[in-house]
Amino acid sequence: MSKLELINMTKLYKTGDGVRDINLSIEEGELVTLLGPSGCGKTTILRTIGGFLDCDGGDIRINGQSIIHLPPEKRPTAMVFQSYNLWPHMRVYDNLAFGLKLRKVPRPERERRIRQMLELVKMTGMESKYPGQMSGGQQQRIAIARALLLEPEVLLLDEPFSALDAKIRQQMREELRKTQTDLNITVAFVTHDQEEAMALSDRVIVMNKGSIEQVGSPQEIYHRPRSRYVADFIGEMNFLKISDAQVLAVRPEHVQVAAGTGGELDGYVRTIMMLGHYIEMTVDTDHGIVKAFITDEQAQRLGRGDPVALTFGRKQEYAAG
Ligand SMILES: Nc1ncnc2c1ncn2[C@@H]1O[C@H](COP(=O)(O)OP(=O)(O)OP(=O)(O)O)[C@@H](O)[C@H]1O
Ligand SMILES: [Mg+2]
Repeated sequence: MSKLELINMTKLYKTGDGVRDINLSIEEGELVTLLGPSGCGKTTILRTIGGFLDCDGGDIRINGQSIIHLPPEKRPTAMVFQSYNLWPHMRVYDNLAFGLKLRKVPRPERERRIRQMLELVKMTGMESKYPGQMSGGQQQRIAIARALLLEPEVLLLDEPFSALDAKIRQQMREELRKTQTDLNITVAFVTHDQEEAMALSDRVIVMNKGSIEQVGSPQEIYHRPRSRYVADFIGEMNFLKISDAQVLAVRPEHVQVAAGTGGELDGYVRTIMMLGHYIEMTVDTDHGIVKAFITDEQAQRLGRGDPVALTFGRKQEYAAG
């Protein structure tokens, strides 16, 4: 049995925006990411699962039981929001203890669990701080700790790291992934950052305008994007118009470059850019500009305007549109 099931779940706002007929199963211990551009309905799905929004149709089940008639606090879920997570007037300890008190967990047990949880999120010693006295990353660790203390069947995370700078974000990602696998927690994670989704997830759900466009492992989504939309949204992609009806999609790392002519597609070097640990070349062709990655040696030998022959490794065709 799946841990979480969405069955034709629909949530529409008065404006007509929202999400329609969402079908999705998440297995126990799985971390699944909802990925898509701003406004595609990621937060709407998460808030509907958490009970902060009412479903207009369909069902939400956890361990096979419908939860749509339960208020948020009665649902076996816990949600962490992008910001304003913690109660600012409460010390860290009280922020963590609040939910346990509501659930009538006896004091010694409360203290023990909070101590353990602070160790887990590497925040021991912060008990008496107020949220305003901590960094964003520290506050988010406490927010996640508070959610985990409730021992939810499903943890809902809505862009929890998006307000943090790149380095902390990456560190938090790694910590989350470790904690999640160590404790075998089931997580639905929202992000609009495709790199974050690829790095973190067992499976990625790519969304487009209120619907699911593709569900798959990061590898499947990257190497076999089902539609042009997914191909375009995930990673870098060259789109070459090969006829009025079709475009060819090739990732830059699958374009091989040789000096001269006689490739699948020939062209002329347009730019060569040194980007740290790799070098990027763009090539002018009759079918548009193609981006490729080249070696140091090629960069030495080739210059702007030189003829080059391109061959393509992995490629896919989509309807032009
Ligand atoms: N309370 C609301 N009332 C009316 N429409 C809303 C409301 N909240 C969101 N929407 C609309 O519903 C759609 C989905 O919004 P949602 O917040 O779920 O998107 P999102 O994918 O989380 O976007 P973001 O990446 O910007 O957070 C959008 O078109 C949005 O404008
Ligand atoms: Mg959102």
